[in-house]
Amino acid sequence: MQSLKRIGVLSGGGDCPGINAVIRAVVLDAATHGVEVVGVLDGFEGLILDRVRPLSSADVSGIVSTGGSILGCSNKADPSRVPAGKGATGSVIYEDRRERCLATMRSRGLDALVVIGGDGTMMCAQRLIETEPSLKCVGIPKTIDNDIPGTEMTFGFLTAVETATEAIDRVQTTAASHHRVIVVEVMGRNAGWLALFAGIASGAHLILLPELPFDMERVAAQVKRACESNPSGHAVVCTAEGARPRGGSPVGRIYESLPDPVRLGGIGAVVAHQIGTATGIESRHVALGHIQRGGPPVAADRIIATQFGQKAMELLRAGQWRRMVARQDFRVTDVAMESAASGQRLVPADHPLIAAARGVGVGFGDGPR
Ligand code: F6P
Repeated sequence: MQSLKRIGVLSGGGDCPGINAVIRAVVLDAATHGVEVVGVLDGFEGLILDRVRPLSSADVSGIVSTGGSILGCSNKADPSRVPAGKGATGSVIYEDRRERCLATMRSRGLDALVVIGGDGTMMCAQRLIETEPSLKCVGIPKTIDNDIPGTEMTFGFLTAVETATEAIDRVQTTAASHHRVIVVEVMGRNAGWLALFAGIASGAHLILLPELPFDMERVAAQVKRACESNPSGHAVVCTAEGARPRGGSPVGRIYESLPDPVRLGGIGAVVAHQIGTATGIESRHVALGHIQRGGPPVAADRIIATQFGQKAMELLRAGQWRRMVARQDFRVTDVAMESAASGQRLVPADHPLIAAARGVGVGFGDGPR
């Protein structure tokens, strides 16, 4: 058993429902073991700028059900590569501020660090460990994208599925009234988990995934068939923001100031326009955007988040540093942190949910024409 006096906790990357439930679990578990918790504000930015706040049991009272993060989040700060102005040629100059982070930990008396985040946050933690191999750090996987390697489920995902499903349910009724096609774009970066789950749950007629590049002619044919097969003559297409045509590229834009600069989005508008042109059926699109990340977590996410936060404390007490909490076969376990930072967990083409969806007539716009 490790003796811990004071630990830090931070939430990095984009927010998602359930972060507060994790923070609460960390603080309450720590309190029962006589450990103080210090919250680091705005992810690694707080460590770089020495912005922290103490967290007592009273501070986390009632937050199991709230959205966002009481500590704030930031995807701007990778401590190993912080933008520090522009050079003579106009290109961004980066500075390594990892030593600054470690200095904050020392001056604040932090024995260990809990990082709540996605692959980017786990990568930042890894890079901090490269600078200080004795750093006691554990990770908790967070993202609505559900794409972190090593865990079959991240917290926040099920809430986003619920939110997207409810939105598509609403789109279904208006599309039916107007005998239209409506394309709904959901988040997920290069992974199609959210589109697959929400698409199935809402009875979407087509689901477009980044993992199964689509053929536009096939999409149009499947949309036509869907419209003909229901009395309202409508169809709803649920597309992942990372979906792309066969041989084509995803739609998005670059935000140069971010360490992870690519932001996907816009494929829904493109697909809706092309469906309208190819089928002659009136088509619209809607992108659900950050609505999917906000608001209170569903009960299942509150439970997973509580388990994850408590498990992180168990790992710290057991001296299991550089591990990430994970869920495998519905059980909470842990994996090496570097495995989580090794890329994105994508939907396999032979996933049983894809087969089930195909079985009930959902089109994926893939396959031969
Ligand atoms: O990774 C979570 C996520 O919400 C993605 O699904 C989405 O592409 C991205 O973050 C959006 O990032 P931002 O909030 O920086 O626009």
